[in-house]
Order: sequence, then structure tokens, then C-alpha cells
Amino acid sequence: MCGIVAYVGNKPAAPLLIEGLKRLEYRGYDSAGLAVLSGGTVHTPGTVQMSRSVGRVSVLEEQVNAQSSQFEGTLGIAHTRWATHGSPTQENAHPHTGTTKDGHTIALVHNGIIENYRALRTYLEQKGHVFTSETDTEVLAKLIAELYEVETEGGSGAALERAVQTALREVTGAYAIAVTCEREPHTLVVAKKGSPLIVGVADHAYVVASDASAIVSHTTQAITLEDYQVVRLCAGPRDQIPESPTHGGPWSVDFRTTTIDNEQVRQRVEALELDLEQIELGDYEHYMLKEIMEQPEAVRTSLRGRIDTREGRVVLGGLAGLSRELVRAKRFIFTGQGTAYHAGLIGEYLFEALAKVPSRAHYASELRYRNPIIEEGTVIVPISQSGETADTLAALTEAKERGALSLGAVNVVGSTMARETDAGVYLRVGPEIGVASTKAFTGQVAVLTMMALYMGKRRYLSGGDVERYLEELNAVPDHIAKIVEQSAYIGECVKQVVDRDNWLFLGRGYSYPVALEGALKLKEISYIHAEGMPAAEMKHGPIALIDDGMPVVFIATQGSQYDKVISNIEEVKARGGRVIAVATEGDTRIGDYADFVFHVPAISDALSPMLTVIPLQLLAYHAAVQRGHDVDKPRNLAKSVTVE
Ligand code: G6P
Repeated sequence: MCGIVAYVGNKPAAPLLIEGLKRLEYRGYDSAGLAVLSGGTVHTPGTVQMSRSVGRVSVLEEQVNAQSSQFEGTLGIAHTRWATHGSPTQENAHPHTGTTKDGHTIALVHNGIIENYRALRTYLEQKGHVFTSETDTEVLAKLIAELYEVETEGGSGAALERAVQTALREVTGAYAIAVTCEREPHTLVVAKKGSPLIVGVADHAYVVASDASAIVSHTTQAITLEDYQVVRLCAGPRDQIPESPTHGGPWSVDFRTTTIDNEQVRQRVEALELDLEQIELGDYEHYMLKEIMEQPEAVRTSLRGRIDTREGRVVLGGLAGLSRELVRAKRFIFTGQGTAYHAGLIGEYLFEALAKVPSRAHYASELRYRNPIIEEGTVIVPISQSGETADTLAALTEAKERGALSLGAVNVVGSTMARETDAGVYLRVGPEIGVASTKAFTGQVAVLTMMALYMGKRRYLSGGDVERYLEELNAVPDHIAKIVEQSAYIGECVKQVVDRDNWLFLGRGYSYPVALEGALKLKEISYIHAEGMPAAEMKHGPIALIDDGMPVVFIATQGSQYDKVISNIEEVKARGGRVIAVATEGDTRIGDYADFVFHVPAISDALSPMLTVIPLQLLAYHAAVQRGHDVDKPRNLAKSVTVE
């Protein structure tokens, strides 16, 4: 779990690396570092200078600026970290280094996890390498250094590339890496397995990053690496680049892709589907608020072209080839982590109600290790914003190995999960940068709703039912637009309860997963302890927690279980709790019970989560701002967790 950026080209690398790290900071932000290689030719080595710091990228930036004369080179690698092995200290921050037998530095940044690092570390220590960190990554840097001399026998011009290939054949685990060596001052070698990596191809340079957001300000042309691929990137004066074409200007660039087994790969350069505007903050103070406010448009884009109200059907191109298998499916398993798991729970309710197919949602981390029963006709649906969450990927692999058909509900196009599933439906909500997931959740629920209707139409629902749902679904973006208008009012209400450190979130039916999601949002960014649960469960224990003034949030829309929820509200009021209710517009009764009411337009139970979650997102946002927290980068969290 981390972000990496690397650059080789004709401009000073350090400012570009810092800019890239800032874009990737959402992936991890407990420490950061960079290495810049300056000077050198094909015959004389350059010099690697490093800077590493604990804390945000801005700390690193200050440190580098204070010694800017040392960081003038045009090749560099950089990293922003979310600690897994070893605490967030300067020693554990990347880059990590190794020394070749002829005394030159290899520097490396890594996203992922090297599982057999202990055995490799023992081997390398026996060879005389001295470790200075507790990380798994340092092993890889030293292993490449150890192998470097062996590979240079005979004076090869691609020694680093071959040392990287050889080293990667020895490691198990996941990696996206960028490596540089003083002996090859115009060469950057990058590789990946399991963790994402993109190479941007600019005019005179290559920009490498964990995701496109750190690349689009330089180029929209890019290569997305596949697992086990190694790319050697060279940029420099023409006479310094070994395979320069004979024509062109004085500056030359060259790349080539191989596998870790040194097989040549023909690599396609493709256009990135990401605008700079999509990842800029614009007039908003925080990405989270921007992304909450973007939800009307995000859901509209997710639905666009997929709902045919005239014909009364859902058109999901991604499922087209599988309609027969889906109609015959005997069981659906939804899986994900965090917010995506909550969307999966809603999927469970939707598929059982609308498609009458037995369904269950599981935390991917639990599913993976419980020896799951996958009978014939089981469909697994991994749900993920990033498409890279390690727990979810592991559960997907396990279910596939046991014969399940897999359908992804993923946001990031071309992500590992998108590629590893048999078919799928992209969320299409655009990049989500705030660590607390908001528009991805509504996108996930929108996609699962469409999938359920797609199945329902073929299995159970009448044509009239489908048409009614589709019309309601089409209106969801406008409804969300109306709900977000209450943002300032929600902020005012929150002021009166924000000092309380324990909250409950309660709902029944489709509102139960929404209660879980509301509690998670509050925990994630405002560090308030909150629990979500089925409203009826409260009286079986948690009611003991309720004391004078404790905030209890009810999702109390006028659906099938409204009266029962009202009874639960009365139970809370009788014990002094302060009730915050999410209720249906026009509900005049709720005001008699609740201290604060946030309204959502009337809609069927099955479609209500896409509306009821919005006030809870805003509630968490305002609570975090009022408590003075960094909303987009909450403590200890990371946007996508690529370790199990
Ligand atoms: C992390 C994030 C959560 C997110 C979860 C799943 O824990 O902090 O906000 O819901 O991962 O991420 P995914 O990318 O798979 O949706």
C-alpha cells in the first residue's frame, strides 16, 4: 500500500516527483522519500542523492528544496508510504538501497509486499549486506545489487534490467517497483506483479506512477504494465542511449518490455481515460466534499446508456456474453472490504428480492480463508473502487479456483480486479481521491441494482415491475442533487452533537447496510466511535449504551418497516438519546420523535440506499471538519489496501 512515481527525461526530476507524490498521497501518507541520479555517462557512473522524511509529502518537499543543488538530475524515483513492515520512520521510508560489488548504489521504491523476505534477508546477510531498515523492500534492493555484478559479466548494456529480472524470479509476493543504478545513469527499470503500474510516454521523457493521476499532467499516452513485465526506460543525449534510432534530435528515448524470464513483449501505447480536471480540487475545500457533491453526475454517468425505459430493460454490455449462465445461476456471493462490503450487503438484499436468487455478502478477508463452498452455478461478485484491494483479489482468486463465475463491480478501468474477472460492469463514477469512499459507494449500489434488475427481468420480475424500477432509478441523480442541498443545514445540526464520542446508527432492511456505512464514515474521518446495526438488534444489548444525549442516527424512511423503526426511536428517546433521523419528504410524523430530520425524496425500499446514505456522508464530513481533522487523509488509513 503505497504510491510510487519515477521519471527519466530532460527536465529536473525532483519537482516532477514531488508533484506526482502529492497526487498519489491518498494512497499512503505516513512517510515519503525520493532519490535523484545526477551526472554520469555510459562510461562513468552518476551519483544517487536521497531524501526521506516522516510525515506528509510537504515535509519531504521542504527538505528537498533546502538542498536543491543536490537534486538537479533528470532521473529519479519517489515513494509515499503506508507502513506495513516497520513503523513509519525515516529508516523505513523508501527509497531503499543496495551496493553492487563494485561499490555503486542501486536505489529502489516498491509498492506491495515481498512475502519471502526473511529467507532472502538471511541469504543476503550471509553475503555481507548490512540492513538498515525493518522493511521487506530493502531485501529487494540488496538482492538486485547482489545480482548486478553477475549479470554485468561480459559488459552488457542492460545489466540493471537483467539483475531486476533475475531478482524478481526469486521473490514471492506483490510488487510494483522502480529501480535505478549509478552505473546506468540514463536507465530506469520498472516492473510489476499484483500492484498497479503505468508508464506515461511523453515527448522526451517517461513518467511512471502507481496510477494515472500522477501522469496526466505530463502525457495522456501510456503503457499499463501486466504482471511479471519489466520495462527498461532510457532517456538521455543521443550518444548515451544504446538503442537510439539513427534519426531525430540530440535527445533520445527508448523503452523495451520483457517478462521476468527475459521474453520480449510487444507493448501497446494507449490513451489514458482521465482528464486533469477530474482530479483537481477546483473550488472545493476537500476532495471528499467534491465527491459527495459530484454524486448526481456520477450516478447519471453510471446509468447512462444502460437503462432502456422504452423497452423496459437494462443493457449491460459487460454481461452480454454470459446471460445464459446468469439466468441459470444458483447462488451469488458479493465480496469486498470496507465501504465496498456494505455495497455488497445491499447487493445481497437486492438479488434475493428482485432476482430471487440465494445471495450472501462476505468480507473478502473472511471468505478467502473459510474454505468456502462453491457449488456449480455460483457467481462471485467482487466489489471495489480501486480494483486492487488485496483481500478482495485473494477472495476472487480462491472462488475462481473453486469454479465460480466472476463478475466485477469495479471503478478503475483496467485494474487487476477488472482484468481478473470473467465479466463485469464498471462503476463509471470517475476518479475517487478522498480516502473515505462516497461516490464509489453510490456507483457500486447503482451497478448492483442494474445487475439485479437485469437478472430479475430474466427470472422473476414482471415487465411492469421492471419498468417501474427503471423509472425510479432514472430519477435517482435528480433526487441526490436535492439531498446535497441540505449540506449547510446538516452542518448546523452536527454542531450540536459533534462533541459526543459514541454514536449509534440504526436501520432495518435495506437501511441496515446504510447504517453500517454511516457509522464507518463517521469513524474513518472524525475518529468518533460509532456502531451500525439492525435497528431491532439495539434492544438485545446495545441499548445499555444509551445515556443522556447520546446521538442515535435512524434511517427511518417510509418503507415497509417504518412503524417498527418508529417504535425503536421511541425506545431511544425514552432513555434520553438524541435522535437524528433520515426520513421521507413529507413525513410529518417523524418530527414528533426526532431532534433533527434530514429529508430524502420518496422511493422504493430497494432503491433507497442511494439516497439515504447521502445525508450520512455529509454528516460525517461536517463532523470531521468541525473536529479539525484532515478529511481527505484521515490518520492511519489509506485509500486502497494492497496487502492482506
Ligand atoms: C480501504 C479504504 C476504504 C475502502 C476499502 C475498499 O480500507 O479506506 O474506504 O472502502 O479499502 O477499497 P476498494 O478500493 O476495494 O473499494
